[in-house]
Amino acid sequence: MLVWSPEPVLLKWVTTSAEAPRSVPNIMAILVFGSSGQLAQSLRDTQQDKEPIFVDRNTCDLADPGRVDAILERQKPGLIINAAAYTAVDKAEEESGLAQLINEASVRRMAAYAHANNARLIHLSTDFVFDGTNQSPYLPGDPTGPLGQYGESKLAGELAALEEAPESTMIIRTAWVYSEYGSNFVKTMLRLMSEKPELGVVNDQRGSPTYACDLAEMIWQIHEHDLFSPGIYHWTDEGNITWCDFARAIQEEALESGQLAKAIPINPITTDDYPTPAARPAYSVLNNTKLAKLVGIEPTPWRRNLKLMLSRL
Ligand SMILES: NC(=O)c1ccc[n+]([C@@H]2O[C@H](COP(=O)([O-])OP(=O)(O)OC[C@H]3O[C@@H](n4cnc5c(N)ncnc54)[C@H](OP(=O)(O)O)[C@@H]3O)[C@@H](O)[C@H]2O)c1
Repeated sequence: MLVWSPEPVLLKWVTTSAEAPRSVPNIMAILVFGSSGQLAQSLRDTQQDKEPIFVDRNTCDLADPGRVDAILERQKPGLIINAAAYTAVDKAEEESGLAQLINEASVRRMAAYAHANNARLIHLSTDFVFDGTNQSPYLPGDPTGPLGQYGESKLAGELAALEEAPESTMIIRTAWVYSEYGSNFVKTMLRLMSEKPELGVVNDQRGSPTYACDLAEMIWQIHEHDLFSPGIYHWTDEGNITWCDFARAIQEEALESGQLAKAIPINPITTDDYPTPAARPAYSVLNNTKLAKLVGIEPTPWRRNLKLMLSRL
């Protein structure tokens, strides 16, 4: 039998003695901001039968926050997953106003809708909210201190969402995302390794790669098992390495799978050898324990996910 749960946005199946026991799906409209991004496509791949509405930038340009209100009022979702963001870390140094509109002002509108409609917001954020001076994995409550405009705008988005809808917002910070889709470090390395005689890769920035598909599955687990719990969480693959370690692992795996024909030297360089417009945290390893406990799943070791992603490429 189908009944309303105490929370108006949730419709749940419950069993009566006349019915066979069954699982308890939440039948609620899900709206995902983002369509062709890495996480958005991974959410699509792993959605199973949830049929979320994916909103691309043509339908709702987040640089125009007023459009967020319009689409949410039209679709009336019970769950918003914000997989869209201004993610051009270096360009953000010149386009901080645009980054602020997409990563803060529009997120504030999503949260305001969630608060007003008893809906839920799962919002993605980044390790770049930290300054990288920690010596051990960052906890969700550790002090923030972004080093660039992208991190500033993402932190402002977190604060805006928590201010508007502290009871309805779950923030999941992640890091070093890669996937079969879009452009990312793994795909760039594979291309460069097939074109160049050797490569220099930064060896003094440490973090945790994250396969977008695993992150997407974690998000669906939260939804499917009704584990939504407001607050800030971290989620990356297990383990931490430098970019140079990651590049070497990519080469090893791609040689083994036949995706690369020959090895090239991969030389460690420093951040100073490879200056970029935006500064990056030297250490941005995130502690995943809070979300692992909530959902009852341990993160997958990064190397296993790298193998899996390469096999799907
Ligand atoms: N990539 C990383 O290494 C990384 C690291 C840490 C945290 N994160 C966070 O993880 C989340 C997902 O990242 P991702 O790697 O999937 O990003 P991505 O591949 O760069 O995709 C960005 C998404 O944002 C959408 N978008 C950008 N500008 C927009 C606008 N003006 N209006 C509407 N949509 C717009 C894009 O829309 P279209 O689909 O229409 O193109 C796309 O779906 C983001 O919150 C990001 O900050 C990413």
